[in-house]
Amino acid sequence: MLIQTRDNTFQELLRALALVLDLEENRKLYHAWRVAALTDLMLDNIGWKDKRDIHYAALLHDIGAIGLSDHIVHHPSLSEQLANPHILNHPVMGARIISAVPCLKGAVGYVLDHHEWWNGNGYPHGKQGEQISIGAQFIRIADSFDVILQNNQGQISRAEILRKLQKGVGKEFSPFAYQTLEAVLHTTDTYERLLNSETLLEILKAEEALCKWTPGENNEANLDTVVAVFAKVIDAKHAYTAGHSLRVGHYATQIAAQMGLANSEIKKAFIAGQLHDAGKVAVPVAILDKPARLTMDELKIIKNHPVLSAEILGGIAGMAGILPAVAHHHERYDGKGYPAQLTGEEIPLLARIIAVADAFDAMTSTRPYQATRSFPEAMDLLKRNAGTQFDPVVVETAVQSLREVEVNS
Ligand SMILES: [Fe+2]
Ligand SMILES: [Fe+2]
Ligand SMILES: [Fe+2]
Ligand SMILES: [Fe+2]
Repeated sequence: MLIQTRDNTFQELLRALALVLDLEENRKLYHAWRVAALTDLMLDNIGWKDKRDIHYAALLHDIGAIGLSDHIVHHPSLSEQLANPHILNHPVMGARIISAVPCLKGAVGYVLDHHEWWNGNGYPHGKQGEQISIGAQFIRIADSFDVILQNNQGQISRAEILRKLQKGVGKEFSPFAYQTLEAVLHTTDTYERLLNSETLLEILKAEEALCKWTPGENNEANLDTVVAVFAKVIDAKHAYTAGHSLRVGHYATQIAAQMGLANSEIKKAFIAGQLHDAGKVAVPVAILDKPARLTMDELKIIKNHPVLSAEILGGIAGMAGILPAVAHHHERYDGKGYPAQLTGEEIPLLARIIAVADAFDAMTSTRPYQATRSFPEAMDLLKRNAGTQFDPVVVETAVQSLREVEVNS
């Protein structure tokens, strides 16, 4: 195995992906984590065997809503959801995204139905009653639970949330889902554990340990598919970055191979390249698209993204090897970069490679407020900045290896 595939790398990667879905201006909402943990506890309560598919559906239920300008929890009313095409389509979109990962096939139906209402007023298909699976019924009410919590900034009592949810019984929720939720939350202890991010993570880890994967599922090919989905999710926040993460992964791979690095390092370059901007999801579109000069505060938010990327991916023990590359991809060879102002060879080699791959893609793809450069222009710019912004050896190698990109494109 090129990347250390401990048994739980796959679970940790999916958990990190769910966290990225909930980044909001350098704040983590933990919506996906909380919906998954609560759904798990409800399934435990009724003695449900084999929770895996429902667990992962709950964890990724809103993956189809990633391109929204703000998080979907800020749109709680059904009429508003039905009037917004992006929201209306997010269960279908989410189901489509998840079906790209072979071992998550069993989760697709639950994601598709997580906004169906017991009385048939939900979407996308207006299913009702027992047409809706228990898993989708549970995710529905766990989702509403957290939306209420988020919209009250966590300052709401357990009894008050239950009162609000009870009003939806027979309409949005099945009586059974509500009874089960009430049974799970009958003590304040569980409620408080769900509210605190550390205890929430403990619940998730304990539940994940019960989810079983066959060796055929927990393998590198499946891991690669999730990394590719992850890369798409990162890019989906900002329309003009479509394909950026994957391209940086490919360019970094080509440079690393041309430099003669070991296969394990080349693989790390590919994964780190695809995930380097994970923390950028937290940067509001308004800041990235701002035509005017950025304020100090806005710059601070942008400059925090490599640190945030490393923090999010730091939860994946089996991928610890890519963290230095991710954390330092905006350092400059002359020490004027960020976040740590490392100089020259102090900067991890893979980070120096990704810096060049990243800049090359930014130059050659279409971005607002920046002219797209031709291949020779981009090469020229890389060379002119060798020794100041970039490692000259990496630039030299890139000039040779990325030539093939031009030929292939
Ligand atoms: Fe949703
Ligand atoms: Fe949700
Ligand atoms: Fe970046
Ligand atoms: Fe980037």
